[in-house]
Amino acid sequence: MRPSLTDPLGAAAPPELDWSTLFARRSERAGDKITAILSLAASTDVITFSGGFPAPETFPAPLLHELLPRVLAEGAGTALQYSPTEGLPLARQAVARLVTETQGRAVDPAEVLITSGGIEGLQLLTRMLVEPGDRVLVEAPSYLGAIMAFAGFEAEVEGVPIDTDGLQVDALAAALARGRRPKLLYVIPDHQNPSGVSLAEERRRPVVELCRRHGVPIVEDVAYRELGFDGTARTSLWSLAPELVVQLGTFSKILAPGFRLGWALGPAPLLAAMTAAKQNSDQCAGAFGQTVMAEYVLGGHLPAALATARGLYRRRAGLMLDALEAHMPPGVSWTRPAGGFFVWLTAPEHVDTRDLVAGATRLGVAFVPGAPFYSGPGGANRLRLAYSRVADSAIEEGIRRLATLLRGTGPGQP
Ligand SMILES: Cc1ncc(COP(=O)(O)O)c(C=O)c1O
Repeated sequence: MRPSLTDPLGAAAPPELDWSTLFARRSERAGDKITAILSLAASTDVITFSGGFPAPETFPAPLLHELLPRVLAEGAGTALQYSPTEGLPLARQAVARLVTETQGRAVDPAEVLITSGGIEGLQLLTRMLVEPGDRVLVEAPSYLGAIMAFAGFEAEVEGVPIDTDGLQVDALAAALARGRRPKLLYVIPDHQNPSGVSLAEERRRPVVELCRRHGVPIVEDVAYRELGFDGTARTSLWSLAPELVVQLGTFSKILAPGFRLGWALGPAPLLAAMTAAKQNSDQCAGAFGQTVMAEYVLGGHLPAALATARGLYRRRAGLMLDALEAHMPPGVSWTRPAGGFFVWLTAPEHVDTRDLVAGATRLGVAFVPGAPFYSGPGGANRLRLAYSRVADSAIEEGIRRLATLLRGTGPGQP
């Protein structure tokens, strides 16, 4: 095509870019499983047990009406500015106070890195620790976002089985004893995503000791730690071995995900590396959210809010467990969470819960099939149910629909 006055480059109809030839190899591992879960969670005519969303009733909107004018009047210069990469001093102080008060081991604000949500903490540490081909141990099943973060950096993600008391210590010992030394062990010890189970108190020291002996760092994800229904919490792994454990926390489940705020604390060399990595990603978590969060936590508002949230989630979990008891056919079993957002359901062996998704949508109920929560094979006959965001009045009906599906007798039969 020759250039002309109206088409100076001579490219009146340039060929369309073929994006599929441009993507980096790692894009194949990015996966869109979480996006799929979140998109289902947005539909309104479906009773949605899928996304691990907090209940909006727990968001502190009325209090924010009070706090925000003060933040803007007194601290706009900081709240609306870039913040230091490791976080605003007050935000780090707030996390230090929260952790010190709830985990029985003093933490200095200087040891805290403020992240843009828990998921960013995972990204940062994986970026700085994991080489392609490294072994990474996770619970089987485990949090999809973590599995995807590790797989995205081309780790060999290996599941260690859990039971109703969490990670099986014997299986962990066997995994540590064979093959190459794993780069890290990732655990969610409290009210785990997706199973809802917690690591038994008597297993915590042995897990730490085994990893210490093998020189394997532990990544402890405490996303649901503060949401035990009776308000109690077990010994954190970080408090047992701060030189070996990096702890990742989030305000998404205890304040609001809209803040996109989390934290990391642990061994100084690793936190320094994560801070350097953050400099090359978002540079800093949003100062506005950090300022409001700090006001909220240092103003002493969290304990009462947590008490209310625990009551709400306890009630919803109870409604779900009662409904499961009332409606599920024989051969189906489920976990009984003592906190957090999830019940983990096991259908008979021959069922693949992925095959039930279309029928479930027709019946107006959503869940997450079990298989993606495993890095390897397994979990096909399991599924995750989040009771956290479903109105009390809809929980039984949702479970009734699911039971219809599992009985294989309803209009949603696949
Ligand atoms: C176990 C676990 N860790 C981390 C996160 C990430 O939370 P966020 O990035 O919203 O802070 C989640 C969210 O679902 C989770 O379930």
